[in-house]
Amino acid sequence: MQITAEPPTIAVSINKENFTCEIISKSKKFTISILDKQTPMSLIGTFGFKCGRTVDKMEHVTCIQKESMIPIVTDHTTAYIEVRLINKIDVGTHTVFIGEVTNADLITDKEPMTYEYYHDVKGGLSPKNAPTYVGTQSKKETKQGGKNNG
Ligand SMILES: Cc1cc2nc3c(=O)[nH]c(=O)nc-3n(C[C@H](O)[C@H](O)[C@H](O)COP(=O)(O)O)c2cc1C
Repeated sequence: MQITAEPPTIAVSINKENFTCEIISKSKKFTISILDKQTPMSLIGTFGFKCGRTVDKMEHVTCIQKESMIPIVTDHTTAYIEVRLINKIDVGTHTVFIGEVTNADLITDKEPMTYEYYHDVKGGLSPKNAPTYVGTQSKKETKQGGKNNG
């Protein structure tokens, strides 16, 4: 979510149970990858439904390192954003991390995947820890990542 344009500031809402929450709190930086529409459900399954505490998510992907030195996955990433943490807000189940954009670039000219496209075209679902989870999907679908994912 964009917060201000000048300086460029954005926010993300991360569930406190997620490894990502611990890592951002400790490192005080994070990156965001904007995925293209062709992103396979298997990649979304790894990063969006598995936990970095138990799975090495970076094992089968290609990465680059830029200013922040955080590995940025380039598989199906059309653009990336590097962020320096400037504030965080406790909102109960989630922490909202607010950060200043330190670097951003386009990698390809492919069309980015929106949430609407992910849900309506790819049949993707939101796992329990995502802020958009509404609790109407079956347990099997939530674990698999969507109706079209096995
Ligand atoms: C499309 C999609 C969007 C998601 N958005 C968020 C989000 O904004 N915040 C969040 O905490 N988790 C979100 N999730 C869920 C996490 O990616 C998921 O809980 C993951 O297993 C966390 O991995 P980690 O423990 O390595 O951080 C999303 C998942 C998907 C598939």
